[in-house]
Amino acid sequence: MQIKNSALSLVIDAINQKELEELRLQFLGRSGKLTLAIKEIVKVPIEKRPEVGQLANEVKRAIEEAIEQKISNFKFQISNQKKESIDKTTPGIKPKIGHPHPMTLALYDVVEIFKKIGFQTADGPEIETDYYNFEILNIPKDHPARDAQQTLYIDTRDSKTNPGEIILRTHGSNMQGRIMKKIDHPVRAIYPGKVFRYEQVDASHGFEFWQLEGLAVDKNLTMTNLLGTMSYALKEFFGLDTQVKFVCHNFPFVEPGAEAYMSCTVCKGKGCSFCKQLGWVEILGCGMIHRNVLKAVGYDPQKVSGFAWGMGLSRMIILRYQMDDLRLLTNPDLRILEQF
Ligand code: PHE
Repeated sequence: MQIKNSALSLVIDAINQKELEELRLQFLGRSGKLTLAIKEIVKVPIEKRPEVGQLANEVKRAIEEAIEQKISNFKFQISNQKKESIDKTTPGIKPKIGHPHPMTLALYDVVEIFKKIGFQTADGPEIETDYYNFEILNIPKDHPARDAQQTLYIDTRDSKTNPGEIILRTHGSNMQGRIMKKIDHPVRAIYPGKVFRYEQVDASHGFEFWQLEGLAVDKNLTMTNLLGTMSYALKEFFGLDTQVKFVCHNFPFVEPGAEAYMSCTVCKGKGCSFCKQLGWVEILGCGMIHRNVLKAVGYDPQKVSGFAWGMGLSRMIILRYQMDDLRLLTNPDLRILEQF
């Protein structure tokens, strides 16, 4: 009886078929516990032998049955698992598929808008020299316009470069000199990219934001070409009912210069925190390229003229999607990004 109890409890605890086969050997094998016990029957007085023999047989059968039962349980479980693994009706797990960021979507659109009227797209460095960011653009070292640019300087103390020579570009206009020096006129190019300024961050200002700057140089280009191109681009991007107004503004690298404002799409011109309650938002700076800049890149201002502009691309996206805060564009929260 002791053998039966210990065998049955071991069978119950067995966790796989292999353990059961081991138990079978341990109890019922040639030198198994039960087999040895049965051999001992010869020592039992002759009249008791049939009774003891019968009991031994019952124990053997009980153990065998328990083992067989458990083995068939395991087999059933395994075949069930196999069936489940090919159950085609089980709903699958949908993989998450990404999509372009609103910034990228807008960038594609603007590039397309300018491509239609013959502009090439160029790319340039974000870490720039003082020369291309300021000097070549008619902004010498002591020019007051530098103050307005909130420049971030790269620490050059451990290099041969003079202090203040390497900076993070404050505007995309660094590309004006680079492009015009490289390509002869006529030239039409846009150059989208990130720019950096030491600014107080708020709903409509960031220390790092995207600009889309561009230029065109050819014979006989006038202010009319500039205003027409800007109005065309803004209306293509925001819709034909967009209102645009130009206001005189000074930039050292253009003459004459202007700033364009467009009706605030967040509040529909009523006034909100994004447009500082004005109903209008400044969207770009532009002007006819200054003769000093043309001369500095080796063009002849007597023969050619050109215009240049710089749009706040981050700001255009905010206005297009009527977001009320520029900071949302750099927020990695999927609840924001999944809406686009
Ligand atoms: N670079 C100017 C800015 O960042 C914009 C601009 C570009 C103005 C070209 C005139 C001509 O504000």
